[in-house]
Amino acid sequence: MVKILFVCLGNICRSPMAEFVMKKRVAEAGLASGFEIASAATSDEERGNPVYPAAREELAAHGVSCAGKTARPLLPEDYARWDLLIGMEERNLRSMRRICGGDPEGKMARLLDYTSAPGDIDDPWFTGRFSEVYGQIEAGCAALLERIVKEKEMGGKWE
Ligand code: 4NP
Repeated sequence: MVKILFVCLGNICRSPMAEFVMKKRVAEAGLASGFEIASAATSDEERGNPVYPAAREELAAHGVSCAGKTARPLLPEDYARWDLLIGMEERNLRSMRRICGGDPEGKMARLLDYTSAPGDIDDPWFTGRFSEVYGQIEAGCAALLERIVKEKEMGGKWE
């Protein structure tokens, strides 16, 4: 079982987009039973709120549903519960390390660091660039899944 928690600032735009894009990819690959996937926020601002309408519409335009998702904060105990905690930008990683008391097991990374173009996914809540962000998230999730599948094939890590 591979347990992935996506994390951003509000948990209403980028990390739920990544959560539901990744769930769809994993399901399409026939691997759903081997994965647990969720998302959380480094802030408490949006707790309990649904996915932001522009993010939900961008997902829907690509046939991805995020029905039922509401924002929840990252908690210190999430560090032990998840195998990978994937942030969207360096600022998220700093907050994640602060909340979880560091990253002693090397479980944290930025989503685009799995791609050939590492970097931050800027916050579309401020930039309005939901379509560009969707493309970045799609590329990041594809690269992340490819990495995990390769690691599974090599044996050991995800057994
Ligand atoms: P997200 O976007 O981190 O991609 O979910 C944001 C949503 C809300 C806020 C910040 C970022 N906010 O400050 O409320």
